[in-house]
Amino acid sequence: MAMRLPVRPFTLTTRIRAVRFTSTASNLSDAVKKTITRDAGLPNPDPGADSPSAALVNDHAAYMVATYARPPPVFVQGEGSWLWDIENRKYLDFTAGIAVTSLGHGDAEFTRLLTQQAKTLMHASNLYYNPWTGALSKLLVEKTRSSGGMHDAARVFVCNSGSEANEAAVKFARKTGKVVDPAGGKTDVVSFSGAFHGRTMGALSATHNPKYQEPFAPMVPGFVEGRFNDVGGIRDLVTERTCGVIVEPIQGEGGVVAAEEGFLVALARRCREVRAVLIYDEIQCGMGRTGSLWAHGGLPRDAHPDVVTSAKALGNGFPVGAVVVNDFVGDKINVGDHGTTFGGNPLACRLAHYLVERLSDPVLQQGVLEKSELFRDGFARLKKRFPQLVTEVRGRGLILGLQLTEDPGAIVKAARERGLLVITAGTNTLRFVPSLVVTGEEIAQGLQILEDAIAATR
Ligand SMILES: Cc1ncc(COP(=O)(O)O)c(C=O)c1O
Repeated sequence: MAMRLPVRPFTLTTRIRAVRFTSTASNLSDAVKKTITRDAGLPNPDPGADSPSAALVNDHAAYMVATYARPPPVFVQGEGSWLWDIENRKYLDFTAGIAVTSLGHGDAEFTRLLTQQAKTLMHASNLYYNPWTGALSKLLVEKTRSSGGMHDAARVFVCNSGSEANEAAVKFARKTGKVVDPAGGKTDVVSFSGAFHGRTMGALSATHNPKYQEPFAPMVPGFVEGRFNDVGGIRDLVTERTCGVIVEPIQGEGGVVAAEEGFLVALARRCREVRAVLIYDEIQCGMGRTGSLWAHGGLPRDAHPDVVTSAKALGNGFPVGAVVVNDFVGDKINVGDHGTTFGGNPLACRLAHYLVERLSDPVLQQGVLEKSELFRDGFARLKKRFPQLVTEVRGRGLILGLQLTEDPGAIVKAARERGLLVITAGTNTLRFVPSLVVTGEEIAQGLQILEDAIAATR
């Protein structure tokens, strides 16, 4: 039987909504009957070929460009750290939509503001002022400075996604290079092995991974790859030709690998020497996930960047991105240099404004650090019980990686079929990026499911 929802029981309306949603699928009534007899051995066995989930997917999949390989469940509802699929299976969500829903699913105030602002004004275009684009920009600058992050944060460009934020950051670096060296010799953009900066052509050109780049070659010219955490290589890598350097303080997709403080300090010093723009991509690791507003918040001032990019948790699921710049960069960007139709719309900015307030709350951030310890204690137990499998625990706060010696695919499936959603990263890394409001009890429950899942795959 499916695990039932204890927090807010599926009301009749919800169940009807779920079934109605599936009613486009063929043979639904037969399929619904079959779910009642699902495997009793596992709480959430993946929906089978004759399930309502499969019927729905079969009806839709042919119309969707096949860019993702998805597991069988179809999610219809979320609350806090929990998701429900159309067959009323309940899952503990340690993925938060890949580090997005930091306040959890269905936060009441977020939802209220969304509705209120949608009724008031959603979009009028960047051709005009509105109250929220500027309010978000001001708040981001103030909170960045007061949180110990980028001390000279000055202005913000608001966009719609992480890739777009990095795209803008790279363009700002190129423009800065043009002003610093009008002869046009300052155009190189440096990024690092293991990095992930997005899928648009500029962001992709900074993501030196053949898996992502090869199908779309040639890349944008002028992108140079360096070795992550290689202090010795910085001098030859970052030169007078460099206009910008982009780096994740903690690589997410790359396997939850933190940049060493000495590396970032050396990188920042070298950028200042050659007047290159230093960009910290905090799209995954920022916004409170490490227990401070920005992952770079604990670094000495001389390791602070000229630009920070944000997205993901900035919108808790609503698409929004932001590029925070200092005056070295901001002074060089003029009217007409860059733009966006949707970016900075009043709805996205009203929501992001609320999220920046919530995610910069010291109480929430202290909770992140405490919850991180609960995960780490659990991971230590797993490492002890499965020494051949678990080799290392990485990351900070609630962006954590468990390095395994094998492909985690079977464990991810076994966890899902026991009611826990986890994702992977890098090479054989299990990645944990739950909502920041996940409770201690939920962490304990999830870790127990993970342990059972690992044991079942041995
Ligand atoms: C560090 C980092 N940068 C950029 C991106 C791209 O963001 P988006 O998918 O919103 O374009 C991601 C997405 O995973 C990311 O983790």
